[in-house]
Amino acid sequence: MWADLLPVGRDAATGGYRRHAWAPADLTCREWFAAEAVRRGLDVTVDRNGNQWAWWGDPDADGPGVVTGSHLDSVPDGGAYDGPLGVVTAFAALDLLRERGHQPSRPLGVVSFTDEEGARFGIACTGSRLLTGVLDADRARSLTDADGTTLSDAMTAAGQDPAHLGRDDETLRRVGTLVELHVEQGRALVDVGAPVGVASSIWPHGRWRLDLMGEANHAGTTRLEDRDDPMLRLATAVLAARESATEHGAVATVGRLAVHPNGTNAIPSSVRAWLDARGAAEADVRAVVAEVADAAGAAAVEESWTPEVTFAPQLRDRLAALLGGAPVLPTAAGHDAGILADAGVDAAMLFVRNPTGISHSPAEHAEDDDCAAGVEALAVVLADLTAPAGNEAAPA
Ligand code: GLV
Ligand code: MN
Ligand code: MN
Repeated sequence: MWADLLPVGRDAATGGYRRHAWAPADLTCREWFAAEAVRRGLDVTVDRNGNQWAWWGDPDADGPGVVTGSHLDSVPDGGAYDGPLGVVTAFAALDLLRERGHQPSRPLGVVSFTDEEGARFGIACTGSRLLTGVLDADRARSLTDADGTTLSDAMTAAGQDPAHLGRDDETLRRVGTLVELHVEQGRALVDVGAPVGVASSIWPHGRWRLDLMGEANHAGTTRLEDRDDPMLRLATAVLAARESATEHGAVATVGRLAVHPNGTNAIPSSVRAWLDARGAAEADVRAVVAEVADAAGAAAVEESWTPEVTFAPQLRDRLAALLGGAPVLPTAAGHDAGILADAGVDAAMLFVRNPTGISHSPAEHAEDDDCAAGVEALAVVLADLTAPAGNEAAPA
């Protein structure tokens, strides 16, 4: 499975992945998911919001079920593991359970959430946010990519009807428990020498847009004192983000810009910048955003906000015990499991060790042995969560 996915959407020059929602590489990944599900005799469905599900058993008749999976889309020049590791290990763990003759007492599902990274349309976890209703359907339909294509048009072009986007209780009812496995995006597991960990919480985080206006003019002939240069405002804002994040124990990033008209020899007429800010406490994140907006002299328009997520403590502890006392750790990365947890679904996450901690980069990596340990851990957890009553494994 891993070898089949590796070339899909990989940029030959950077080695990074560009699997953006509803674009050709993403569609190839979606076909891959459906083919893997069919190959195993699973029932494949695509929900109203474009998330893909594959079921072993019938969640409508015998549900709600236990679901595992992640996402297949990527950030621009992302790594191979962020998302796909959770989907590939989901199918692999299911194979392992079947090899071991496990008869699940509840339906078992594999999910691939659509557009987790928000690389193309700007909002992360679009599929899960629509599913749970925290993202408004009309707003989603009108989200626009850098070429001016709306999400609605992109879905239509991909053969998915966008007319029925929005909270989907029928799909949510099928999900009793969600376990998402993900490559770790930090170095906590390296430091404690463990291949697999369990998530405790996700930092509150969000994305904001700053529109910095100026006056277009000639780069050579315009005297410095006559300039109204929005790039200077941007520079001030970026430095303020770093300073303010340091002061508040948070993190803040400006990683995406749209410069107009984007000419080397022209003072820009405007710079649009996106700020990603995260912290352990919402108040600190809000303070950083306010200070950056103040430094920029522009409003920070909130494009998305994810409150702090605390994963269900009982499920978290059960997983950690099943895995022999696996380390429990918080993360500052967003995940679909967090969106579902916030909506009241019993959700948990497993992390697989990342030797460098690097993520959202072509350099992201996990050792094969650790990925295999992730499959084994996931199989143990799924076997327990779908064990006939009274047959749950004794926690190690
Ligand atoms: C998702 O990968 C995020 O940006 O946290
Ligand atoms: Mn990611
Ligand atoms: Mn991810």
